[in-house]
Amino acid sequence: MTLLANPFRKTALALATAAAASLTFSVQAAEVEVLHWWTSGGEARAANVLKELMEAEGYGWEDFAVAGGGGETAMTVLKSRAMSGNPPSAAQIKGPEIQEWGELGLLGELDEVAEAEGWDELLPPTVADVMRHNGSYVAVPVNVHRVNWLWANPQVLAAAGVEMPTTLDELFAAGEAIREAGYIPLAHGGQAWQDATVFESVLLASGGTEFYQQALVELDPEALGSERMIEALETFKRLRELMDADMSGRDWNIATSMVIEGSAGMQLMGDWAKGEFTAAGLTAGEEYLCAAAPGTQDAFTFNIDSLAMFRVEGEEREAQQALARLVLEPTFQEAFNLAKGSIPARPDLDMSGFDVCAQQSMDDFQRTAEEGGLVPSMAHGMAVRADVQGAIFDVVTNYFNSRDMAAEEAARRMVNAAQAAL
Ligand code: GAL
Repeated sequence: MTLLANPFRKTALALATAAAASLTFSVQAAEVEVLHWWTSGGEARAANVLKELMEAEGYGWEDFAVAGGGGETAMTVLKSRAMSGNPPSAAQIKGPEIQEWGELGLLGELDEVAEAEGWDELLPPTVADVMRHNGSYVAVPVNVHRVNWLWANPQVLAAAGVEMPTTLDELFAAGEAIREAGYIPLAHGGQAWQDATVFESVLLASGGTEFYQQALVELDPEALGSERMIEALETFKRLRELMDADMSGRDWNIATSMVIEGSAGMQLMGDWAKGEFTAAGLTAGEEYLCAAAPGTQDAFTFNIDSLAMFRVEGEEREAQQALARLVLEPTFQEAFNLAKGSIPARPDLDMSGFDVCAQQSMDDFQRTAEEGGLVPSMAHGMAVRADVQGAIFDVVTNYFNSRDMAAEEAARRMVNAAQAAL
């Protein structure tokens, strides 16, 4: 008689296996699955802060990282997961898109945590509003990124004999000098969202905050088709002269590494780029420089990363609520934002441990909020719904890469893009 043919032996084995399984099950921590696109060196360090804090509280972390700057790929993957009825516990969803997911009835509420932790008092009302759907909190903000920044390598600037440019004219002049000194003036990655990131800073500089608001937030057809828009588009396209021939498809963090290594002088990018300088061990204000994108000193294009919570049950919900609580606690806000390059989402934290760029960001955030220069970033999903944003991206990137499309034509297409989406 073989062992397996023995029915008693078989039963005993089965029971032992089942007992072991249930034991594993009972000691296994409740887990959260979190979708995000924080995959560059600096971003991964930042995401790890949250994973470690969750694990320290006894919860499991399943990382659902989808590479691709700006998050377009992550959003596509999220849609297919949600459509198959299996969304993650939480996902990085921002701005008006939170409302779109809320309208689908897929988000779970966080009101108990919000009340226990006093979120209403903690968060600026403009931030809190974005996190609520039908009056309930459904998302929690992790940070505030500023998009209109210029980054530079001081050694390259010195070699070219130029200072940090403060106007668009100075930017072009500095770029020329950097090119003559043998470096790439402006590191850029030719991807639609990066083109749009640069474009909105140029539009802000050449048209001003009010115009930015009318065109890219209110989608006013007159502003979109105006002379000012045409001018902004032309200036934007001229920036190609400062970029290199290999930019097509390049990831943003590779462009940042060109500034870090000193093959390029400058980059126009949001302050997630600072996460890369920090991860490389460089000191802000000394080994790398930051300044408001030329001509945008009085404005702040904000981009608030947030984790929206899906409707989940049981232990997963318990872990999800813990995640939401941790995100707004000072420990996370400080450690995450130091690594990510952003500033905390709650304004009450001590900024003395942050670098000079983050301190400037916090000051400028508060100053522009008072003076009226605080505007939502179109390129980073804070200003308009995803379909309109996609249509604007198409116009911007097609125009930027076209040999023969006139700025007038691009402006006309911009008007159509906004109208088609209404
Ligand atoms: C932004 C996002 C940032 C950063 C960046 C590059 O949209 O808010 O957190 O990840 O894209 O991927």
